[in-house]
Amino acid sequence: MPSYLSLELTPSPVLYGRRTGGYAASWPVTDRASLTLDTMIPFPRFDLSGQVALVTASARGLGRAIALALAQSGADVALGLRDIHAHGGLPAEIESLGRRVLPLQMDVTRMDQIFSAVEQAASYFGKLDILVNNAGIAPGNLAEQVREEDFDLTMAVNVKGTFFASQAAARVMIPRKSGRIINVSSQAGFVALPTESVYCATKAAIVHLTKCLAVEWGQYGITVNGVAPTFIETPGTEEYLSNPAARADVIERIAALHRIGQPMDVAGPVVFLASPAASLITGHTIAIDGGWTAR
Ligand SMILES: NC(=O)c1ccc[n+]([C@@H]2O[C@H](COP(=O)([O-])OP(=O)(O)OC[C@H]3O[C@@H](n4cnc5c(N)ncnc54)[C@H](OP(=O)(O)O)[C@@H]3O)[C@@H](O)[C@H]2O)c1
Repeated sequence: MPSYLSLELTPSPVLYGRRTGGYAASWPVTDRASLTLDTMIPFPRFDLSGQVALVTASARGLGRAIALALAQSGADVALGLRDIHAHGGLPAEIESLGRRVLPLQMDVTRMDQIFSAVEQAASYFGKLDILVNNAGIAPGNLAEQVREEDFDLTMAVNVKGTFFASQAAARVMIPRKSGRIINVSSQAGFVALPTESVYCATKAAIVHLTKCLAVEWGQYGITVNGVAPTFIETPGTEEYLSNPAARADVIERIAALHRIGQPMDVAGPVVFLASPAASLITGHTIAIDGGWTAR
């Protein structure tokens, strides 16, 4: 049997006794040693206790679920809100989970609000570990009828907002040599959706931006990843999915699981990407699409 098949894990003598540090540092290992509970190799950790997260567009839909899931996993959460007063009771829900919360005015088309929100989050909590760039809009139209103002606003929220919120967060994360940035792209970043050409282009841009920022900021211990959901039941998709023909078409195209997603279907992978268990993943965008893009 080749040695890589019979390999059993153990820390190298140098690393023995270290609880922190990545698996990468512990390879290669001797192929005759054994993995036991007392060998001190850290198991993957999924909890976010002691972490501080900022989620943009967190009042409703995916952002709300992501904020709640991060809090449930242990993180204190700063809420980026287009209108700080329109939070729908989310701060109280997060506090009821035993976490600290900070609602922030953060229209991502406004550079001043992006930078002040990140600064307030970092100063209130003393640091910022996780940024989730969730804000996104999708004004649909036939490509030949797209209006310039819709084009500009979609680019401003989806691409420019994602870039500059990431820049603001990275300026806080770089000195601490650690951070997680998670961008909400879409399956529309990989496949074409009719009447959504501008939205699709912005979500593809986010997929590529995710790779670019990952490569640039990896040296500072910052990972940058994305998620690419299929259709999820949120206020943003309510009208479209209330059309029985459109709904049936979507369910058919979700080619393996044939069900429309719920916001927590997206929040789970976001928590994973923010967790210590995902420490060697960067530049990647995870499809959460029930198989739409697999077919
Ligand atoms: N739902 C899906 O099927 C689906 C699929 C793939 C990807 N996505 C992506 O997931 C993200 C969230 O989608 P969703 O369906 O949850 O959205 P949604 O229900 O339409 O909610 C959009 C959120 O974005 C906020 N927002 C809009 N413009 C903003 C701005 N300039 N600055 C800050 N926040 C702003 C809205 O704030 P207000 O509450 O103040 O209006 C709202 O909270 C988007 O990036 C979307 O493209 C969604």
